[in-house]
Amino acid sequence: MMRCFILLVFFCITCVANVHGGTPVEVPDTMAERVKACIICHGAEDKVGRDAYYPRIAGKPQGYLFNQLRNFRDARRYYQPMAILLENMTDEYLLEIAQYFSALQLPYPAPEQIHMQPEEIKLAERLIYSGNPEKNIPACNACHGDILMGVEPAIPGLLGLSRAYITAQLGGWRNGGIMRGQTADCMSEIAQQLTDEEANAIAKWLASQFVSGKPSPFSVLSPELAHRCSQNILENGGAK
Ligand code: HEC
Ligand code: HEC
Repeated sequence: MMRCFILLVFFCITCVANVHGGTPVEVPDTMAERVKACIICHGAEDKVGRDAYYPRIAGKPQGYLFNQLRNFRDARRYYQPMAILLENMTDEYLLEIAQYFSALQLPYPAPEQIHMQPEEIKLAERLIYSGNPEKNIPACNACHGDILMGVEPAIPGLLGLSRAYITAQLGGWRNGGIMRGQTADCMSEIAQQLTDEEANAIAKWLASQFVSGKPSPFSVLSPELAHRCSQNILENGGAK
């Protein structure tokens, strides 16, 4: 059933003409038309109910989006409805899609209303802004940008994502699960150092922030951190 739905959606993004009352009707062959199937799940709508999990992709760094699209296509990150959509797409085409979404501006969802104890807030803020040197965890914002909106070209922002999504991503890395645990990288090393309590506090804190601003330039990243994530940063065809 799900597969039929997805194939139908796929048909709609790939066709340039559809039949209407027997006469072919030209649909403009623009990227906006072709990614309509993606917008069903990655649009600007409020993150409520069953859609809460779908991550924001508009405005994220292009290299990051490109890496993720390749990961889904090549089964290094698993989500079947997307794998089906992407299975026959070339790298060049995925790069075009990444460029499109990176430049796309959509309104951000309102922050989630989440109750947090003062100690939980302190715990989250300490990790996010100072890290934990004892466990070799740098501050999250040393890599994700001062304002947590990401760093070009390959580090995503952390705001505007739901608590459910952030928890699931951290969980995938920590458990080495099929969602995102298959290739070890700088982020999986960090996630594996977090306790459950820390991961929960961070997910709650991030999901309850207002979102504004843009990704920072690559130059804000220290050479040491860039080196630590070289796998993520260099894979997309060059960091600079
Ligand atoms: C049926 C809903 C659905 C459709 C259709 C869909 N996506 Fe997704 N997308 C998701 C979900 C859910 C995730 C998170 C999966 C996970 O947990 O790893 C995701 C993740 C992503 C990510 C990674 C985001 C991040 O921050 O890491 C990108 C990029 C992406 N999708 C792009 C696309 C594109 C491009 C299309 C159209 C070709 C598309 N998606 C179609 C639901 C969807
Ligand atoms: C050394 C640099 C570095 C540090 C420090 C870091 N991250 Fe990351 N993070 C990354 C990179 C690189 C990615 C992209 C991973 C990929 O390509 O799959 C990422 C991705 C993520 C994502 C996925 C976002 C999405 O859109 O799917 C989350 C969530 C995340 N990091 C949370 C954190 C938290 C919380 C901290 C602090 C405890 C942190 N990160 C610290 C480099 C870092």
